[in-house]
Amino acid sequence: MEDNLERINTIVADGCRREAILQAAGILRTGGLVAFPTETVYGLGADALSKKAAGKIYSAKGRPSDNPLIVHVADVKAVYELAEYVPDKAEMLMEAFWPGPLTIILPKKEVVPDETTGGLNTVALRMPSHPVALDMIKASGLYIAAPSANTSGRPSPTEAAHVAEDMNGKIDMILDGGAVGIGIESTIVDLTGACPTILRPGFITKQMLENIIGFVEIDVALKENESNIRPKAPGMKYTHYAPKGEMTIVEASNTGDMNLRIVEKINELVSEKMKAGCNVAVIATSENADLYKCQNVLVVGERTSGETIAAKLYGTLRKCDDLSVDYIYSEAFHTGELGSAIMNRLLKAAGHRVIKV
Ligand code: TXA
Ligand code: MG
Repeated sequence: MEDNLERINTIVADGCRREAILQAAGILRTGGLVAFPTETVYGLGADALSKKAAGKIYSAKGRPSDNPLIVHVADVKAVYELAEYVPDKAEMLMEAFWPGPLTIILPKKEVVPDETTGGLNTVALRMPSHPVALDMIKASGLYIAAPSANTSGRPSPTEAAHVAEDMNGKIDMILDGGAVGIGIESTIVDLTGACPTILRPGFITKQMLENIIGFVEIDVALKENESNIRPKAPGMKYTHYAPKGEMTIVEASNTGDMNLRIVEKINELVSEKMKAGCNVAVIATSENADLYKCQNVLVVGERTSGETIAAKLYGTLRKCDDLSVDYIYSEAFHTGELGSAIMNRLLKAAGHRVIKV
């Protein structure tokens, strides 16, 4: 996609080095953009209280301006500076899960500009646990607005190289902290209504939240067959995380030898497309990889471990773009506690194209 942004020289530095952290902090204080690792995905940071700095994030990402940013903080005290009101349940969740992959939505104070919240009167807040992120926020003395550091519509970056692919020449600096641990974005919980509501599933599950604060709803727009309802998190309405090739998920009902049926169906679809001269990829778990007859079999993780699948999911979708494939067939991954967060991302990447066998 062509843009009218002036190209700038993007500095790439080792995020573990103190000088790099101090340089990043200086850039942020003067209104610049710095990409940094968090435990979930890489973020693209700017001063959250500066309209101009937050505005630059939207241009660099090509992000629609009605899609609000998450404000990253380095301590709980910051929440009282930014939120109009902090309910008990917010305090309980911060105590249980911060620093970590949980974002909470609260009513915002006047100081938080509309440019950061996409014009909403609420603000999303999160304290990441990645040491590079925490060091950078503390050194800057700021609150850092940061969406995922990908071009809007591309899969979120889980390595510094992914950030460079999308952002080189558009931002001031990339702090390299290696591959992230979790690989999918934070769980978002809205605490502004009568009942706490999950707006985006993530590593912190519904059950983990309920163990701390009791019943938690799930935004109805996230439920299967509800793809026409407008989600409460504006960003969840966009076809996100999407590779360039057309992706389809093959899923089996829970009877008989479901695994074999998935493999057979995917092989049939691959063979059809290959006969037609198309470039095809299969996204598979390591247990099944050898069963596919396809030139590009991409192993995403182990069927028994949602953690391994989450960690490599976005990198695997990017790999499909690198291979310029026309069609992608993926197994469904309803694996363990992370299954619903993984399937939420996978379904969006596939534009909700699912074949059941
Ligand atoms: O793990 C994460 O949360 C990563 C890392 C970098 O921290 N950040 C991230 O940001 O995923 P982003 O911008 O890609 O996704 C933020 C989501 C969007 O869907 C946005 O619409 C929603 O949060 N959001 C932000 N502020 C909101 C608000 N006040 N009300 C409802 N949804 C909000
Ligand atoms: Mg994002």
